[in-house]
Order: sequence, then structure tokens, then C-alpha cells
Amino acid sequence: MKIKILTLFPNMLEGVFKESILKRAIEQKICSVELIDMRTYSLDKHHHVDDTPYGGGAGMVLACDVVDRAIEANSTKESYKVLLTPQGRTYKQAIARELSSKSELILVCGHYEGFDERIRSFVDDEISIGDYVLTGGELAAVVLCDSIIRLLEHTIRKESSEDDSFSDGLLEYPQYTRPVEYKGSRVPEVLVNGNHKLIREYRLKESLRKTYVRRPDLLVKKELTKEEERLLAEIREEQKSNG
Ligand SMILES: C[S@@+](CC[C@H](N)C(=O)[O-])C[C@H]1O[C@@H](n2cnc3c(N)ncnc32)[C@H](O)[C@@H]1O
Repeated sequence: MKIKILTLFPNMLEGVFKESILKRAIEQKICSVELIDMRTYSLDKHHHVDDTPYGGGAGMVLACDVVDRAIEANSTKESYKVLLTPQGRTYKQAIARELSSKSELILVCGHYEGFDERIRSFVDDEISIGDYVLTGGELAAVVLCDSIIRLLEHTIRKESSEDDSFSDGLLEYPQYTRPVEYKGSRVPEVLVNGNHKLIREYRLKESLRKTYVRRPDLLVKKELTKEEERLLAEIREEQKSNG
């Protein structure tokens, strides 16, 4: 996968791709990430990229011609162009999965007060990472890159992303590692006894329990198997008797 991030602040992004799993994915050529400075597409001799809003008001607005030229110069027929904006569809694991199947992604970061409305017509998609306002799209672009790259084949083991929260509509089950006892708190016995059938059932049940307690909205959307329905009924009973 090829990712290009169109930004006014490429330095903000550099370090992220030089560490850990993202660094390895780039070194192993699973993906490439190019940081493109949109300022180089300004025709103005001072490289201005923004201007005051028509109709007045606070702040500066990112100009459409600069972004248009930057997108044109960096896209191919394969490019899927995404604008980062708090007004876009809210980012979810399902969207990360959808985007991980694209061969080329162009992520356009706004900045300042916002961007010229006409920029919307240059892209295929608009994504928000949540209902809050950032100073620019750079951190949002990093969130997308991180969540997408880890889903690409060979970046991490397939089993590890398959069990992740949201992958099958549930939060992930609790995880433990050594020591078996810490400050009086013990790892559940079932996880140390090596019975894989019991471990699988325990994990499914605890995954359902976490979702039931923390994110019941996810359960409303999920089609449960017979086993999941049975485990959920047990959890409801247990929760009732625990008050
Ligand atoms: C200060 S914000 C502009 C917000 C704009 N005035 C509005 O109310 O919709 C500057 C830029 O940061 C990015 N941004 C801010 N919040 C975001 C979010 N929740 N998700 C994605 N991008 C965001 C966008 O690229 C946006 O153009």
C-alpha cells in the first residue's frame, strides 16, 4: 500500500513512522508513507497557502487551488483520497479495515480555521476521528495510518488483529502475563491450566462480559451465535446476583 499525507507540517509526522511496528512495516516494504508539503504547491512567492474568509470571521482558511494542485500532482487512478475533517464520517475499526484494502491512499490534512468548502469535491471520502476539534488533520492522519498499517498482511500476526476489540463486534477479553499473583490479585485459574477448550470459552465469555458492561451499544448491533446467547444469559444472571 502507498500512503501519501498532504500536510503543511510534515515535521509533525516524521517521528511516528520511525518507530516500532510502523517503522518495520515500511522497512519491509509492506507499505510506503510519503509526507508531502502542500506549501510547495503554492504559486505565491511567499508560499502562502491560506487567506481570510469571505464574509469575515476569525482565522484563516486553507485555499482550494493549493490543495487541488497538491492532490492532482500526487494522485493516480488508484488513489483513494480522504479529507480529514471533524465533519466527516466517524472513524471506526470497520473503516480502517475498508481502507486497508486500498492500494493507494491520499490523506489531506486541513489546518487553521478550516479549508475552502470546494476542497470537498476533490476527495472520495471525509473522515473524522471523533467529536472534538484538533488544530490540524495531522494527528488524525496518524491515527488512520497506524490503524490501517497494522491490518496489512504481514505487519502483525493475523491472529492478533482478529481478536482485537471491535473486530467481531466485541471488546477484547482480559489479558494477563507473569507473575501469576501480584499484590494479592491472581490470574484466573482457567488461563494457567492449559485446557484450550476451556480457555476459548472463558475468553469468549469475558469478551461478552466486557462488552455488556462497557459498551452495551455494540451488543445491540451484533448477531449473536447460540453459544454467545447462552453465555450472555449467564453473564446477566451473574451481574444480577452480584448486585
Ligand atoms: C481547527 S480544525 C477546523 C475545524 C472547523 N472550523 C470546523 O468547525 O469544522 C482544523 C483542521 O483540523 C482537522 N481536524 C480537526 N478536528 C478533526 C477531527 N476530529 N477529525 C479529523 N480531522 C480533524 C481538519 O483537517 C480541520 O480542517
